[in-house]
Amino acid sequence: MCGIVGYIGDKNCVPILINGLKRLEYRGYDSAGLGVIINHECRVVKNKGQVALLEKKLEEVSLSGNLGIGHTRWATHGVPNEINAHPHFNSSKNLLVIHNGIIENYQTLKAGLQKFGYKFISDTDSEVIPHLIDSFLIKGHSLFKSVQLALSEVEGTYGLIVIYDEEPDRMIAARKGSPLVLGIGDKENFVASDVSAILAHTKQIVYLEDGEVVEVFKDHFIAKTVLDKEIEKEVHEITMTLDEIDKGGFAHFMLKEIMEQPESICNSMRGRLLLDKGTSKLGGLESVADRLASSSRIIISACGTSWHAGLVGEYMLEQFTRIPTEVEYASEFRYRNPVVNKDDAIFFISQSGETADTLAALREAKDKGALVLGICNAVGSSIARESIAGVYTHAGPEIGVASTKAFTSQLVVLALITLLIARKKNMSLVDGKSIAEELKTIPDKISKILKLNDTIEEIAAEFKDVKNFLYLGRGYNFPVALEGALKLKEISYIHAEGYPAAEMKHGPIALIDENMPAVFIAPKDSTYEKIISNIEEIKARKGRIIAIASENDDKIDNLVDYSIKIPDTIRMLMPILTVIPLQLLAYHIAVKKGLNVDQPRNLAKSVTVE
Ligand code: M6R
Repeated sequence: MCGIVGYIGDKNCVPILINGLKRLEYRGYDSAGLGVIINHECRVVKNKGQVALLEKKLEEVSLSGNLGIGHTRWATHGVPNEINAHPHFNSSKNLLVIHNGIIENYQTLKAGLQKFGYKFISDTDSEVIPHLIDSFLIKGHSLFKSVQLALSEVEGTYGLIVIYDEEPDRMIAARKGSPLVLGIGDKENFVASDVSAILAHTKQIVYLEDGEVVEVFKDHFIAKTVLDKEIEKEVHEITMTLDEIDKGGFAHFMLKEIMEQPESICNSMRGRLLLDKGTSKLGGLESVADRLASSSRIIISACGTSWHAGLVGEYMLEQFTRIPTEVEYASEFRYRNPVVNKDDAIFFISQSGETADTLAALREAKDKGALVLGICNAVGSSIARESIAGVYTHAGPEIGVASTKAFTSQLVVLALITLLIARKKNMSLVDGKSIAEELKTIPDKISKILKLNDTIEEIAAEFKDVKNFLYLGRGYNFPVALEGALKLKEISYIHAEGYPAAEMKHGPIALIDENMPAVFIAPKDSTYEKIISNIEEIKARKGRIIAIASENDDKIDNLVDYSIKIPDTIRMLMPILTVIPLQLLAYHIAVKKGLNVDQPRNLAKSVTVE
């Protein structure tokens, strides 16, 4: 986790770095810090808490320079405080390092350095890096060579930037396991964890790969590997715009991203739905489509919300392609030596494309010879680049920590993949056409649900003070129950659990009383009558109930306390609709509790540590 940004050029780097850090805050906001070289001297200003607090502190300190680095932290080693905030110095205070990742052998390195008199002041793993680099600098090596030598001793992951007051015309950046890009400007260059931090200045981007170290000057850069092999890097022109990563008048990114879903879903489908042929066209899967359709098993691996999307994908794929499908937490997949066969196809779903657990699971599956496929939102991300083939979700940048539009776009892409495989197998043209036609109607149906925002806000006001919530759904809507509960937990800090509605009577029903409300996802489908029975069971125990129900369902109003009526669709697409009211409910409850919706405590958008 953590966000890093660096600047070298003729401008004052401080406002550039602060704005970059604000863009990167989704990666962590436990502390923030800047390091600048002024007149051959390293200066540092850092603070516990968000970038806004650092900005305030800077009003009282004069800091400017043409070479600087900035860091926003998500704490792993050492509590969030000013001492543990980055940048970190070497002992002679002439070298600064910012780091994203985890140095796994830091204790061994630290003990070795301490024997040579190096003094550590923080509890972080990162602080070993400046001291280790220093141990090579004092032997007469250049900064670049010292960084290479230091990194060859480091185990773990890093995206880092180093500046040194004796070489103030350059910064050194390196990557292994944590994302890093280089931005090429006109007589100025940038380094950042992702393009959002530098998009205001350049669209010319170089993606760094694991094991690469770059020496960045204001008008050129030199890229090598840690082992000193020269490498050529390609410059990419990116299409992302600043509008896409701004709040656009909304109070929070989360609300903006919820409201964007009719459009983001159109973008996920654009050019991909072949209505006449009742199938989809997914350029990124073309080269592997036949192999995919003949796979003996499909595995889907992901974390968090993306894992919930995978569960819906399992239902879709098994129902229509009849290929056995399993869904696995990426963190578990990697460590349990899973059985992976060469004719398995494994999808890795990730909004950021940088989630460490998912990336590690992908590498494990690739080593075992499986067909590894990515479903990612972030273009050019590690998972996208390391997959053999894949599909971008094209939801646009998602900044709010709570994933919303990325989830619905993942569901759309999974539906398109299902259609593609099923039509290659046994699905009829008529059935394919009717699914494709229905997919086309989804954005308008979402727009209709979004109009219920005020009603949902009123319901949220009624429930904002409860301590526990139950989310219940059946079939395709069971993963939506999990997702609704996760949304509430992560931004409102209310304990919430998602369950298959029928499982309730096997345990959780013991929790039900007037203080334990339940959200039922109860559209009119083949499980409707059963779910009505589950509602009755809760009602009999005085539980308050909110139901997400079909717009033509009048019966349900007699049973529940609140109903949110949504349009109907076919079962496989229902989760794309039923999740929308749950996103809004979680959002409004968190806002009414006065919480920071876009930056919930202890979380970060992109979890790049295992
Ligand atoms: O970027 P990814 O999709 O790989 O992220 C996976 C999870 O960390 C993510 O979905 C997380 O659960 C979200 N905060 C949920 O809102």
